[in-house]
Amino acid sequence: MHPTTRRSTHFPVPPSARLLLVLALLFASTISVAIAQSAATPDASPVADAGVASEPFGEVEGHPVERYTLTNANGMQVSILTWGATVQSIMVPDRDGAMANVALGFDNLDDYVSMSPYFGSIVGRYANRIAEGQFTLEGETYQLAINNDPNTLHGGDKGFDKQIWTAAEVEGDGGPALEFSRTSPDGEEGYPGTLEVSVTYTLTGSNELRIEYAATTDAPTVINLSNHTYFNLAGEGSGNIYGHELQLNASHFTPVDATLIPTGEIAPVAGTAFDFTNPRPIGDGIRDASSEQILIGLGYDHNFVLDRESPDDTSLIEAARVTDPSTGRVMTVTTTEPGVQFYSGNFLNGAFGGPSGQAYRQGDGFCLETQHFPDSPNQPDFPTTELRPGEKFTSTTVYAFSTD
Ligand code: GLA
Repeated sequence: MHPTTRRSTHFPVPPSARLLLVLALLFASTISVAIAQSAATPDASPVADAGVASEPFGEVEGHPVERYTLTNANGMQVSILTWGATVQSIMVPDRDGAMANVALGFDNLDDYVSMSPYFGSIVGRYANRIAEGQFTLEGETYQLAINNDPNTLHGGDKGFDKQIWTAAEVEGDGGPALEFSRTSPDGEEGYPGTLEVSVTYTLTGSNELRIEYAATTDAPTVINLSNHTYFNLAGEGSGNIYGHELQLNASHFTPVDATLIPTGEIAPVAGTAFDFTNPRPIGDGIRDASSEQILIGLGYDHNFVLDRESPDDTSLIEAARVTDPSTGRVMTVTTTEPGVQFYSGNFLNGAFGGPSGQAYRQGDGFCLETQHFPDSPNQPDFPTTELRPGEKFTSTTVYAFSTD
């Protein structure tokens, strides 16, 4: 089915100015289409209209799922599903203008529902792990699902990644935008408090995918939201990401026990496989058999502590920069969060594949999940993840794409 494109203007204009405005818009759109076309490869399909399009993407237990596609004036496109508010694909140009999808995913809903390892999803109510699925808040102990033995992972058995969200086109700052929202009922997956949560995706004219999270609660609870996109800057299905060069703005990380729960230590990265303070190929440290932490994680699956001016600093700072020397694609990640989980796709096992038709094997994608630290509800020295009635949870992360 062909996607329907909806566009709307949101500013009132006096009738006398309308003709001028229409002429100006026509001129501007002609110029932007011309620019977009000149950036495209000769054999690329014509650039779709900038804006938001949607189409049906199947059903889950009788409930329809939609796929929305954001397109900017450069022809960059991001498709997002109402299932899990999932980023399904990110089409960006390489240094020669050739487009490729740099996000791992599936071309059909059934695979997302039956076997997705959180490809592109919003993870919550608590992204990452909580030890033994237990925490105590205001004297009450809560028991969550143990879905990653012996811990809870990414919100439990039916986390935010396995829910259908409501999508609405909203006024974006700098490009087309969509807000995904849902109410997480009190007690959902064992968490206290009714949570009203929204995630707004904006695709800016500077090839940035901005993700803004917001939430409120009617009872004390804990919250940690992230996006779980697996990236391969050479294109999904093109092989492993070990040649990508990664730089992290983190001189410390949180070492883990054998079950990937932080020990509580904030350890320096200097002199270890975890030192990405200067750009370095991801594959460099991944075979470091002398690193107990690498062996535990089967590679990188660790939270890095971002270098901030003070523990209270929640400004948008650069967390990571990744370059793929083969295509010249560059991605920077900026965030208001205190940490980022760098995961090198260790559990991809070749059992499934994406739209390219290639099986995804270990290391064929990496995640940079901006977040509060794992197991914070049980770690009093970590930045708090508690949310109380009357407070508003907000968080912003920007994935920006360019070329070298
Ligand atoms: C997160 C975890 C990993 C793994 C993936 C999904 O990144 O930290 O250990 O569970 O999700 O496979």
